[in-house]
Amino acid sequence: METLRHVVVFVHLIGFAVLFGAWAVQAFGGRRQFTRLMTIGMTIAAVAGLALAAPWGVSYELNYVKIGVKLVVLLVIGALLGIGGARQKRGASVPAAMFWLVGLLTAANAAIAVIWR
Ligand code: HEM
Repeated sequence: METLRHVVVFVHLIGFAVLFGAWAVQAFGGRRQFTRLMTIGMTIAAVAGLALAAPWGVSYELNYVKIGVKLVVLLVIGALLGIGGARQKRGASVPAAMFWLVGLLTAANAAIAVIWR
């Protein structure tokens, strides 16, 4: 059970890497657009994260305040990707603040995960 949980944490980290990596490519490649890969990474992180939010394969108490904050942050990221993606489909560009916020909030969720105990 514990090993399976570690595998799900690994999948969760792959989702984070795909989301943040796809965002970093755009941020440093100069195009600053939202891509399908960001949504895919976010979805992987979300599904694995929700599975990890249940208390299985752990011998300690989960921090539900922290998990709740991470869920809210993820929902904001999802909303930003949704709104920005819709704007792109209409031929408009993603506002700079919206683009940078996605990277910032993704990094913030990783920071919350590792720093807040
Ligand atoms: C963009 C969104 C997210 C990012 C970047 C992210 C990042 C991370 C990282 C880096 C870890 C590993 C921390 C460690 O092992 O010390 C982690 C663990 C975890 N995440 Fe997330 N996360 C995200 C979304 C979520 C969501 C939405 C949930 C649940 C609603 C969630 C629940 C968890 C749980 C429960 C763990 C602990 C796993 C364990 O140690 O058993 N995460 N997350």
